[in-house]
Amino acid sequence: MIECSGVGHVYAAGSPWAQRALEGVDLTVASGERVVVVGSNGSGKSTLAWLLAGLMKPTEGYVHLDGEPIDLTKRETAISFQHARLQLFRPTVASDIRFGMQLPDRTVDDALALVGLDPDQFRDRKVDELSGGEQRRVALAGAIVRRPRLLVLDEPLAGLDAPGRKALIDMLRRVHALANMTVVSVTHDLGYAALLGDRAVVLQRGRVASDSPVADVVRAYTPSTPSAPSAETAPSAETH
Ligand SMILES: Nc1ncnc2c1ncn2[C@@H]1O[C@H](COP(=O)(O)OP(=O)(O)O)[C@@H](O)[C@H]1O
Ligand SMILES: [Mg+2]
Repeated sequence: MIECSGVGHVYAAGSPWAQRALEGVDLTVASGERVVVVGSNGSGKSTLAWLLAGLMKPTEGYVHLDGEPIDLTKRETAISFQHARLQLFRPTVASDIRFGMQLPDRTVDDALALVGLDPDQFRDRKVDELSGGEQRRVALAGAIVRRPRLLVLDEPLAGLDAPGRKALIDMLRRVHALANMTVVSVTHDLGYAALLGDRAVVLQRGRVASDSPVADVVRAYTPSTPSAPSAETAPSAETH
């Protein structure tokens, strides 16, 4: 179980460039849950993703995994960045998935198969010769190869075409069902929220504006319903 308590984050705190990204975030995600974090650009989604994955410590409050601060050396959390290419460092697919870890070929092949890439066809391919969607899947294979308990995905659908989005959504369902991982996805696009999570946390200017079943959020923010909020507060559909 992952718990954020009173989490706030200020970049470059104490300097003239201080920039508050999150404030007073209380959030608990149970094991095996699928949560989607929705919000417009700059609402703090990526900052929250990094904190949940343990890549940064919050400047206020704490993030605990089963009651303890996240210890990256245990590899219990994994993140797939918004720009998949940025997390692929090695020249070939298999070396990238291994990324310095001693892993049997079988484990690497299983991770490839799980993200829908045929191991025989992809393990020796060059990362730079893959499509954007394939690179994203390789990044994801690298994230799940050690079967983390918490998987964080920042804008997993950004930049993919319709078939690529469908493949990725199907794949996430498979990964979740098979390994019962806790999955937190971040998206600025409310249109995909219901496909990415069962529960939606809406961020507005770094604060949690609502936390409810995803269907409620989709209903509340769909234009032309009486309860639709102003365009200024609704998560935007613009690209990042
Ligand atoms: N490395 C950084 N240094 C300074 N400010 C940052 C940095 N990363 C993000 N921010 C600021 O923090 C706020 C939240 O950003 P971010 O978490 O990236 O939001 P989102 O992913 O929802 O677009 C924004 O105002 C952004 O400009
Ligand atoms: Mg972001």
